[in-house]
Amino acid sequence: MNTVSGFSKFTKAQKIDFLAKNYFSEPDSAVELLQSFWHPDEKSQMTFDEFSENTLTNFYFPYGVVPNLLLNKKNYCVPMVIEESSVVAAAANASNFWVSRGGVSAEVLSFEKVGQVHFIYKGPKEDLFKFFEKIKPTLLAAVDPLAENMKLRGGGILEMDLKDLCELEEGLFQIFMTFDTCDAMGANFINSILELVARLFCEKSEDLKIEIIMSILSNYTPNCLVRASVSCPISDLEDQRLGMSAQEFAKRFEYAVKISKADIYRATTHNKGIMNGIDSVVMATGNDFRAVESCLHAYASRSGKYQGLTELSLKDNIFHYTLEIPLALGTVGGLTSLHPLARLSLNMLGNPDAKELMQISASIGLLQNFSAIRSLITSGIQKGHMKMHLLNILNSMGATEEERELAKEFFRTRLISFKAVTEFLRSQRNLQ
Ligand code: MEV
Repeated sequence: MNTVSGFSKFTKAQKIDFLAKNYFSEPDSAVELLQSFWHPDEKSQMTFDEFSENTLTNFYFPYGVVPNLLLNKKNYCVPMVIEESSVVAAAANASNFWVSRGGVSAEVLSFEKVGQVHFIYKGPKEDLFKFFEKIKPTLLAAVDPLAENMKLRGGGILEMDLKDLCELEEGLFQIFMTFDTCDAMGANFINSILELVARLFCEKSEDLKIEIIMSILSNYTPNCLVRASVSCPISDLEDQRLGMSAQEFAKRFEYAVKISKADIYRATTHNKGIMNGIDSVVMATGNDFRAVESCLHAYASRSGKYQGLTELSLKDNIFHYTLEIPLALGTVGGLTSLHPLARLSLNMLGNPDAKELMQISASIGLLQNFSAIRSLITSGIQKGHMKMHLLNILNSMGATEEERELAKEFFRTRLISFKAVTEFLRSQRNLQ
């Protein structure tokens, strides 16, 4: 395989040319395909190109909406970006189900971001703690100009502490800082402050021999919590499509939640369903879904055992289903203002602040999970999933419009599988 140096300095045309020649047996069609996904407007394309390095083209994902999220008595149309065929349908379905049962309630319980300066120090601990207390006001004063704008918006630095981690690793300490970053996700703000703190801390420590290892925000934000819940009398869950009584449904639902607490294999999938909803909103609003993912999974393990993130109570014959999670989101800065569709998403949501977006995202996560559990404990997941997936199978086989319509009709009452759809198409094509 050819290696290449200075690739990032090539123009986009040179990059594509290099790839086409070295990695494709049909270079012309590869080039054509890549170019066919360019934005027709050159300026817009440049915006996308500059989000990242070595950009060649755009990778399309469907952008859909859930029209009826009733949250805290307000109606939202929620944008979702996701490729999995049944996710938007499932969230929309659960939203509609809960609209007539009071909708979703959500609240932000805490709102704190975290950053750490990790360093090594092997001298007497009292000297270090004494020095830290002495230098702390100087450090805070030094970073004040960086925090000025955030303070004007009502945020800034909340706390700065010294933590001793020597039990985990000899000489390991950290400066642990908490922040209120208002409507920004706050990564740049936090990291700039941490790096300045680290530099000054080291400079002023003189003969203490402090070795800074790294300074970085933490994506684990257990004190940036939002809670979303749905609630109704168990009898109000009655729905013919369940194929069972409301009591039976609630009992089976309870088992499903208990299984997600007991078994890591199920817990992971349970939480994956929650993330289907949350990630889609996070993507559509230009937020960092990797940060959200890693935080939620860490939070799911906070007891020392990885568990499902939802809680169910059936006390007093009330079905009360809750999702309480950390969600560090932003509605200003970063991609939220640069990506035209992220901007549009926030617009569609009525330009929420970060706290409102936390509530919207958590609600969709809860509804997504509710929908998944409802299918799993009643008809099974494949019925709905394969119905949505049918079009993907047909597209992958180059089905014509007429074949698609025939297939939709044929599979309305039959089990959908890749094999069954192939056979159906083959029989249709042989008929002609
Ligand atoms: C599929 O993307 C998500 C589900 O597996 C979630 C779940 O099992 O709870 C349906």
